Amino acid sequence: TAQGRTVVAIDGPAGSGKSSVSRAAARQLGFDYQDSGAAYRALAWFVLERGIDLDDEAAVVAALADFDYGIGIDPDAYFVRVGDVDVEAAIREPRISAVVSRIARMLPVRAYLVELFRHVISSSERPGIITEGRDITTVVSPDAPVRILLTASEEARMARRSAEISGQSAQEVAKHLSSRDAQDSRVVDFMNAADGVTTIDSTDLDFDQTIQAVVGLVRRTSG
Ligand code: DC
Repeated sequence: TAQGRTVVAIDGPAGSGKSSVSRAAARQLGFDYQDSGAAYRALAWFVLERGIDLDDEAAVVAALADFDYGIGIDPDAYFVRVGDVDVEAAIREPRISAVVSRIARMLPVRAYLVELFRHVISSSERPGIITEGRDITTVVSPDAPVRILLTASEEARMARRSAEISGQSAQEVAKHLSSRDAQDSRVVDFMNAADGVTTIDSTDLDFDQTIQAVVGLVRRTSG
């Protein structure tokens, strides 16, 4: 607890359902919800918009100075914006998913966003905040009283993702997802639970059961 608030950290691979589960759990608990992947995606969107070469680390890092990013942390009023542009839908497009790992592996980008995430966590005015991503339990909030690794079998993750994405075959989704996980896990390990992190395996749980597993753990831990 920071200032009497409950900080909850949730990590997991793509397709584990962590975004929708975290948001629904936050709603039930009356907590804020922070989607950290949205910041990496919004930055990728911004860098593409500016025509910056995604492999030019110096140029990407320089662009951070003009990156005016905003996120809604009320689970009932979620938004993602860059400057005046609502990018919530655009950052989910396959063209962003395909390139986001290239900026997420840049260490100065990570350092910058880690500070941003911590700032959002400390500015939350609700009784708690759930932050979800890849390195929240290990880097952003290693001292959080509740830390969860949300996993699911590869088959379950692929199936959930293909149900979410239209216009892509199940095979394409599977290929993109596993190559993104492979690239992302080179920088942060989100496939194995760090010391003190509770694993929730959602392979055989439905959406509601997974939410209840998270909410139950938060209530047991924070009293
Ligand atoms: O969870 P997501 O698919 O929206 O994440 C988008 C990308 O951002 C993903 O490729 C991994 C990266 N990411 C990260 O490196 N660290 C985080 N805390 C969250 C996301």
